[in-house]
Amino acid sequence: MIIRPETPDDVAAIGEVVTAAFGQPMEAELVARLRSDGDLTLSLVAEDEGAIAGHVAFSRLWIEDARGRAPGISLAPVAVLPVQQRKGVGRALIGAGHLRLKALGETIVFVLGDPDYYKRFGFSREAAEAFRCAYQGDYLQALQLSPDAPTAGEVIYAPAFAAVG
Ligand SMILES: CC(C)(COP(=O)(O)OP(=O)(O)OC[C@H]1O[C@@H](n2cnc3c(N)ncnc32)[C@H](O)[C@@H]1OP(=O)(O)O)[C@@H](O)C(=O)NCCC(=O)NCCS
Repeated sequence: MIIRPETPDDVAAIGEVVTAAFGQPMEAELVARLRSDGDLTLSLVAEDEGAIAGHVAFSRLWIEDARGRAPGISLAPVAVLPVQQRKGVGRALIGAGHLRLKALGETIVFVLGDPDYYKRFGFSREAAEAFRCAYQGDYLQALQLSPDAPTAGEVIYAPAFAAVG
């Protein structure tokens, strides 16, 4: 199993894997829209014996306050083919993504999802609580990749999130 950035040749397979993981096309449409809008900051695939077994999308968001706006990242969606789940693929994709994002100088990642799953990566409600966000609530969590990360402000997701779903 290797984790690597997507290439143009992977686009169709990513759509199929994301659709299969969620059992509906909406999340695959979100990935396609993020890509075509230029908001897909990092898109990683897990490749197993030449086939795509999983995918994670990290997209650009903005954190606005009175002084201006700072960049942040949204983790969504992450998807693993049903037959490949519970083998560590999701963990490998997210872990590799965070290392790459840190190396790129990104400071904060937000995720909307089950805290029981995302806490293993260091995401917490506490880190997200002070932000204003359309998705604020029990499922919004954040992970600071750097001590310089913003700690408050309004989180504005990429337009694809409102356009799809
Ligand atoms: C969520 C998902 C990406 C995890 O990928 P994965 O490769 O199966 O995960 P890993 O093997 O790295 O980790 C599996 C562990 O996570 C746990 N886990 C998986 N989904 C979970 C969830 N929603 N809540 C809590 N724990 C969860 C499993 O219990 C497992 O732990 P265990 O092996 O100790 O029992 C995958 O199950 C998936 O594609 N699901 C459908 C799409 C989805 O819901 N995506 C996330 C929302 S954006």
